[in-house]
Amino acid sequence: MDTMIGIIGGSGLYQIDGLEGASWVQVKTPWGRPSDDVLVGRLHGVAMAFLPRHGRGHVHSPSAVNYRANIDALKRLGCTDLVALSAVGSLREDFVPGDFVVVDQYIDRTFAREKSFFGSGCVAHVGFAHPTCPRLSGHVAAAARAAGAKVHNAATYVAMEGPQFSTLAESRLYRQWEADLIGMTGMPEAKLAREAELCYASLAMVTDFDCWHPSHGAVDVAQVVATMGRNAKVARETVARLPALLGTSRAPCPHGCDRALDHAIMTAPAQ
Ligand code: ADE
Repeated sequence: MDTMIGIIGGSGLYQIDGLEGASWVQVKTPWGRPSDDVLVGRLHGVAMAFLPRHGRGHVHSPSAVNYRANIDALKRLGCTDLVALSAVGSLREDFVPGDFVVVDQYIDRTFAREKSFFGSGCVAHVGFAHPTCPRLSGHVAAAARAAGAKVHNAATYVAMEGPQFSTLAESRLYRQWEADLIGMTGMPEAKLAREAELCYASLAMVTDFDCWHPSHGAVDVAQVVATMGRNAKVARETVARLPALLGTSRAPCPHGCDRALDHAIMTAPAQ
């Protein structure tokens, strides 16, 4: 099967450079409109699709992003692998602003978003114990390291609804839960990617210490934007290194991401 790498760009990353034959395409989905058109093209011979999660100009808040339409649009274009980039706050001393983190677990505290493609007419319960693809995550970590980032290999991400940042009590609670990162967009994106049988990896870029750290002030947008600005070059370089690592064609996912629905559907087949 031919590889197609989908990149979901977060705050501060609204396009990717160097795509051959690049064009922005409008994709229609049964779930409504994706956040924006999708930039498609080839990088080092590998098909790529780039979708800015918040839209160009950052016009959709985390709660307003149509996650179902975004994942469906990338699936319809033929993506096999999705790499999600995002800005996050750190909940631990040793993850500092500027570091990159490959997420491998989530705590989903969002409550105002559509979280499944299933539920009306067809019911499915996909396995989600391991929400990201270890094979793809390994490539993403290698690409980020080669691009010059300091990379942490595993982390638990608390997905909060927002748009307000956390209270001090919440931030302390998440630290007691031993969560490592906090962000507003990781869910339900990862859940929907699994339902769409896509390999999914999340590269989180630490922009702040949220509000728990006694020697740092509480997070604000200026901090997030400034750190993302400093990270943008390394993020773009990371993306540029992915095609060589993933290759033009791929075997079935060794972790079964591409077969997630094989034992997940409860609804009886139509007679
Ligand atoms: N995105 C970046 N920093 C964040 C924080 N501290 N909380 C939630 N989302 C974030």
